[in-house]
Amino acid sequence: MSEAFKLDLTQRPRRLRRTASLRAMTEETILRPADFIAPLFVVDGKAKPEEIKSMPGVFRLCIADLVKECRALLKLGVPAVALFPKLDPRLKDSEGTEALNEDTLILRAVRAVKAAVPEITILTDVALDPYTSHGHDGVLNAAQDDVENDRTVGILCKMAVMQARAGVDLVAPSDMMDGRVGAIRRALDAAGYTGTGIVAYSAKFNSGYYGPFRDAVGSAQAAGTRLLSKATYQLNPANRREAINEAILDEAEGADILMVKPAGMYLDIIRDVREITRKPVAAYQISGEYAQIHAAARLGWLDLARCRHESLLAIKRAGADLILTYFAKEMAAAL
Ligand code: PBG
Repeated sequence: MSEAFKLDLTQRPRRLRRTASLRAMTEETILRPADFIAPLFVVDGKAKPEEIKSMPGVFRLCIADLVKECRALLKLGVPAVALFPKLDPRLKDSEGTEALNEDTLILRAVRAVKAAVPEITILTDVALDPYTSHGHDGVLNAAQDDVENDRTVGILCKMAVMQARAGVDLVAPSDMMDGRVGAIRRALDAAGYTGTGIVAYSAKFNSGYYGPFRDAVGSAQAAGTRLLSKATYQLNPANRREAINEAILDEAEGADILMVKPAGMYLDIIRDVREITRKPVAAYQISGEYAQIHAAARLGWLDLARCRHESLLAIKRAGADLILTYFAKEMAAAL
């Protein structure tokens, strides 16, 4: 028989973990449906919802189905959606001309959602990648070897004003061009859209985890060419100070909400941005984060519901006030 071993402890933190009730009382971070923004993909025509192969449970929706989905999300308490267009490749060119068409898919989608579900908050991306044949977020320079910053920003300003006119509540520049937040703010104000907010993708990293999204919107065309890399505008995943600097610049230029993207691998950056601003901080749990959890769950290696919850809890605990996530609907339903 081993002798009873006794510690003389004043602190026994396990006391507060003893019962479910005590654990609930001492819970520090709680997810709620209003924390989520649901990214949704829209296509033209009347096609049935088409599942994105690398994103189980995520569909490209025609406008009528998109409206239904917005209604369902709102009913579950999800207050906002971020809309992304999947364009017919024939509409794409090197300049992304279709982005400035008053009747382009995304603007028709926004008008339809606003008319049918006016209470839902709509975000739209301000970036050219769904519209360019090369898949870059902007237009190329004369040498065709880089995205041209200022000319791109000029186009983004026009896009933002068109989106505001269509009824978007929050425009979200995801392009990472220098000076775009300030320029978009001035363009919106000059056009009378002083109430339209800007969610700045402030710290957007050049991530390998965007793959499934590029399949979803068909922006991966440049794959295999020397133009594939977005490294001249998106952040180096190695850089923390540079990310904080981007957030500081965007706030000074007039951003209303600052975003970090991806989320799960960049929790330190979420915390850093939370500490340098008093504005709301958003984080985008991106397509690859979603795909990873699904793939492992499919193999029977992870428990989907548990890891889904834990992944989002970690993002909120790190300091995100708002989370863009493809899990938004099922999480809201589960909470
Ligand atoms: C580009 C954009 C990207 C995402 C949203 N807007 C990816 C990219 O830079 O290619 C990714 C979202 C996701 O992976 O879920 N403007």
